[in-house]
Amino acid sequence: MLLTPRNSFPMPKLTQSGFFRCAVAMLASAAAASAQAPKPAPAPPKTAIGAPAPNVAMPASKLVQTGGSLFVQQCGFCHGRDAGGGETGPDLTGSKLVAADINGDTIAPVIRNGRPENGMPRFDLPDGDIAALVAFIHFQKIEAASRKGGRRGVDVADLQTGDAEAGKRYFNGPGACSSCHSPSGDLAGVAKRFEGLKLEERMLYPRGAKAKVTVTLANGQTLTGELVYRDEFTIGMRDSSRHYHAWPASAVHYTVDAPAEKHADLLAQYTDADIHNLMAYLQTLR
Ligand code: HEC
Ligand code: HEC
Repeated sequence: MLLTPRNSFPMPKLTQSGFFRCAVAMLASAAAASAQAPKPAPAPPKTAIGAPAPNVAMPASKLVQTGGSLFVQQCGFCHGRDAGGGETGPDLTGSKLVAADINGDTIAPVIRNGRPENGMPRFDLPDGDIAALVAFIHFQKIEAASRKGGRRGVDVADLQTGDAEAGKRYFNGPGACSSCHSPSGDLAGVAKRFEGLKLEERMLYPRGAKAKVTVTLANGQTLTGELVYRDEFTIGMRDSSRHYHAWPASAVHYTVDAPAEKHADLLAQYTDADIHNLMAYLQTLR
């Protein structure tokens, strides 16, 4: 269905989002199962966790970058690409355990041992990878804290104050939401699935959405699947039979279709009134 080459372009209207959620759940377990999958990112040098400065071997930004690639690949399914929380994993930027962490002393044991009984798999990763993941999580925590002030949003009390009719006009007009969504299709009952602030959060920052990639190999063969990994060197995807493939980015041509990224652009466009009105309109979709 979604992942067959036939459907690759143009982007079809979103179908029932239950499918997406189900796919996410499946991916979560796939991610857990493939925790030891080949790692396309070059392994940084070994560094001791809990040592005074785990990032001495590598400039911090590079460490964060490496950690980000690893995180997207290994953790993003569950915790969100930016560690801000996903379908099954908690927001790590607001975690007390992360706040208490010094150079990996509380985070590393969770990564190594997991909490299998609670859905957090264990990862057998080199120290250098763990140091990079730890650096990335701390970086995201700082980012999240600095965003909070400027973060757009409304209070629960405000949720009902918008004008649903104006929201509907924005949805079908300037917001162009209707180019991807349908109130009687994928968004039918969305207000029942997500209450109040949770709904607003889904609207502003949808998480767990899948990006599609179409890869053309040197021999002309074309494969389409779900984008699982991307950095400047490597492109990785999962095909419709859920097999992971990766290529050197320089050896293939690829195009990525990530419709949910449109939401990031929208954030810059919404006025507070637009958000209020949209929320009022979405609340009518029960
Ligand atoms: C299959 C889903 C899944 C994957 C993949 C996953 N996690 Fe988790 N993680 C969870 C869940 C669920 C919890 C919450 C466990 C609990 O409540 O005890 C968690 C908890 C954590 C915590 C503890 C947070 C706290 O406040 O206690 C850390 C740190 C963490 N994960 C880091 C990672 C890192 C780093 C990766 C990638 C290497 C990763 N996780 C991959 C599901 C996942
Ligand atoms: C370019 C396509 C595109 C546009 C335009 C777009 N969205 Fe989305 N939106 C998505 C995708 C993809 C998702 C993720 C769907 C999923 O994961 O189930 C999503 C998710 C959502 C969700 C969460 C739905 C759920 O079931 O979790 C809401 C609510 C939403 N969008 C509202 C809007 C509104 C309101 C607008 C216009 C202001 C808009 N979107 C514009 C592609 C788009």
